[in-house]
Amino acid sequence: MAVGPINIYEYEPLARERLSKSQYDFIAGGATDEITLERTRRILDAIVLRPKVMEDVTTIDTSTTVLGHEITFPVMPAPSGAHARAHPDAELATVKAAADAGTVMLLSSGSTYTMEEVAQAAEGPIWFQQYFYTDRGMTVEVAHRAEDAGFSAICLTLDIKTNSKRERNIRNEYVPPQTGNYQWASNLVRDPAASWDYLEWLASKTALPIVMKGIMTAEEAARCGQYGAKALVVSNHGARQLDTTFATIEVLPEVVDAADGQVEVYMDGGVRRGSDIVKAVALGARAVLIGRPLFWGLAVDGQAGVSHVLQILRDEMEMTMTLCGRPNLASLDRTLLGFRSPLLDVLPQAGGFDG
Ligand SMILES: Cc1cc2nc3c(=O)[nH]c(=O)nc-3n(C[C@H](O)[C@H](O)[C@H](O)COP(=O)(O)O)c2cc1C
Repeated sequence: MAVGPINIYEYEPLARERLSKSQYDFIAGGATDEITLERTRRILDAIVLRPKVMEDVTTIDTSTTVLGHEITFPVMPAPSGAHARAHPDAELATVKAAADAGTVMLLSSGSTYTMEEVAQAAEGPIWFQQYFYTDRGMTVEVAHRAEDAGFSAICLTLDIKTNSKRERNIRNEYVPPQTGNYQWASNLVRDPAASWDYLEWLASKTALPIVMKGIMTAEEAARCGQYGAKALVVSNHGARQLDTTFATIEVLPEVVDAADGQVEVYMDGGVRRGSDIVKAVALGARAVLIGRPLFWGLAVDGQAGVSHVLQILRDEMEMTMTLCGRPNLASLDRTLLGFRSPLLDVLPQAGGFDG
């Protein structure tokens, strides 16, 4: 029998064969010229590792906690709409794969199955992603519904104050899913006026911790804790909203510094290799989220596909930590990374190459 996909990159073309062009493009694509989408991988690949080879790496420990939940490794399924795009089991498959991997899943409000259905199937901690809606009463109602269903945090996605221009979808005349729950979510109007007072107000209305998703600057990171959030995700929505931003990994250090330990900091965007997770953690992320790889795993093999995607990332991460001489997450710090070639110091005439 032929060897199946051995890395996340090999999953994508297999998923593509199984999806319609318009579904594939919806999932894979980014906003306008996809400059940030491309930049994200380029920067991640350009960060170099500085291994230590005389450290004891007999045991590698990738575990950590997120808002008090123990997770076996710092990767969480990102909130992403309508997993039935890729497999009929949809979020019921993803949530089981997440629990099997010992991590937290973030459920999109635009899921195929309702939040109660997913919560029923969940065997591990789950967080619910929603928006600041124009109708504040509705925002609290949705948060309370999530709390009643058993979700243990509310993730507010901040970077969709208007729909972006995703040109692949326009070209394909893409039609969004028509499922009941997705329709319900689409009818809720996101508030373009949402500001810090809205966060402060919501934090006073829900007992659940709030995670702010879409923070890209130190200035806003500093305010999250001040106004009642407990965590933030450095995210540009997988380069699907505003194009020509920095890659998330580039702004991660400034956000971590500004957050100053007041809120937990996670990151998403372009994580495809175990070494990417190591780099993000070394730059101060407590955990990373993955979006598109979930769909690739689902399209290829449903729940087993998502499990395999998570397993690949875990194995690659452990191998990278071993070879870097960094046996646990606390040992991953900025000294592990380089970006500028040291050759530039000794061979100035080599100028022009800065990665
Ligand atoms: C198909 C798809 C649907 C998404 N839907 C949502 C969503 O409903 N809510 C949300 O906060 N983010 C959504 N995202 C963004 C992800 O949460 C995440 O920020 C992004 O996918 C991370 O980048 P990556 O795909 O490169 O891993 C979606 C992403 C994709 C690819």
